[in-house]
Amino acid sequence: PQPNQIEHKIVKFKLSDGVQMAVPFSDEKMKNVVLQFKEQILKTSGIDIPIVDIDMHKEVHGVIFVKCDTLSDESYVVDVGKNLVKVEASSAIGTFYAIQTLYQLLPIEVYGNSLIDSVEWEMPCVRIYDSPCFSYRGVLLDVSRHFMPVPVVKQFIDLMAQSKLNRLQWHLTDDQGWRIEIKKYPKLTTIGSVRRATMVGWDEKLKDGKEHRGCYTQEEAKDIVRYAAERGITIIPEIELPGHSMAALAAYSELSCKLEQKYEVGETWGVYKQVYCPKESTFSFLEDVFTELFSIFPSEYYHIGGDECPRDAWKKCKKCQTRMKQENMKEEGELQDYTVHRIEAYLKGKGKRVIGWDEILEGDVSKTAIVMSWRGKTGGIKGAKRGNEVVMVPNDYAYFDYYQSKDVDKEPFSIGGFVDVAKVYSLNPTEGLTAEEGKKIIGVQANLWTEYITTFSHAQYMLLPRMAALAEVAWTPQEAREYSNFLNRAKLLTQRYE
Ligand code: ACM
Ligand code: ZN
Repeated sequence: PQPNQIEHKIVKFKLSDGVQMAVPFSDEKMKNVVLQFKEQILKTSGIDIPIVDIDMHKEVHGVIFVKCDTLSDESYVVDVGKNLVKVEASSAIGTFYAIQTLYQLLPIEVYGNSLIDSVEWEMPCVRIYDSPCFSYRGVLLDVSRHFMPVPVVKQFIDLMAQSKLNRLQWHLTDDQGWRIEIKKYPKLTTIGSVRRATMVGWDEKLKDGKEHRGCYTQEEAKDIVRYAAERGITIIPEIELPGHSMAALAAYSELSCKLEQKYEVGETWGVYKQVYCPKESTFSFLEDVFTELFSIFPSEYYHIGGDECPRDAWKKCKKCQTRMKQENMKEEGELQDYTVHRIEAYLKGKGKRVIGWDEILEGDVSKTAIVMSWRGKTGGIKGAKRGNEVVMVPNDYAYFDYYQSKDVDKEPFSIGGFVDVAKVYSLNPTEGLTAEEGKKIIGVQANLWTEYITTFSHAQYMLLPRMAALAEVAWTPQEAREYSNFLNRAKLLTQRYE
């Protein structure tokens, strides 16, 4: 994303033999980030830059890292002079972002995997001060509809990190697959992560007849959390409730209202009427699941879904109806509020903040819950006005499973919709709010739902460069953004992605 302030100078800094890198302070995390930079430079340019512990006041020819505690966590200053590159940050994340900016100043070959010697390893001299506009800059990755193996998730994280995005909402459960190992409930993955076939078009009857399966062990998930954290990204796990829970019910039908003969992992898309029964044993189950997640995901934010939950089963269920009488509820919608409240209170007691889709606003959700506005901006505006924090993910701007061209015949098959790069870029997250209300908007997110996205190559096609546009919405202040300027820079992005 376009940095906050840039001053251009006319000279260039040359990376050549003899260049040194100074990290004159003790901060292991910051040093590790610098070490990654050193390795990438070595791999692509062949220049092996020694890291020295010299005093920061002495002149070096090279790159000096300065720990500057007056900068906020994610801010940085990069000052590229003819002889000296000075990088200032207060944390490993700020340092990481400064380095992403240095990569952008270097020849694009620096993004490669092999030695390139036909390039002038130099960068233009500039002074950049940079700081994000929003603290929440996210992308949702749906691994329930189509499972993505660990190396693919890591590549996804790499793409996010280049754009200085910092939250990955990991959509781990849905009707069509439960993807995370829970030791107390092994059937969630032995049964819940396998479906026998997958709907392949818009017609429910058309299925591929092929089994689809996949899940992450807790160790694999921890590895991903670590990998993401090293790149400034927090993984927010999402456990969908009370709807979008067929895969869990297929594994443990006792969590349902028990009205059907059979519960099976979903093979078609849409909204299922089979949902969790909000009875005590279900709450115990969910609390057990979260307890195991706490040791994997240190994130303060936990996403609990909350969207698209039909109440048909609750109307016919004795336990649900008894609960309604006990709690003086007039209609089934209140059972949904009750469920969200209970889970929110539980997670709050464990030091977590709940995020839910904007349906959570239909009840009197607590003010500490974060509203994720997906049905346009309406829910977000309502949430901000009533005092909730909000992440804007309006489907008409930020759903990356939608078509990105009107010429749909030339596009890979998609769920529908239309969101092109220009539309993403035009998102003004605080539109319709006063300055005070606008402060409740903590950020934006793009959603990559994967009903029809089965390969990482297809995922990249849907993400790029829309993700860069979203990143700029999240990072660069509204008044400093200009689409034509972005488009010019996007040409370079294309080469970089390749
Ligand atoms: C959603 O797209 N149902 C959040
Ligand atoms: Zn029930």
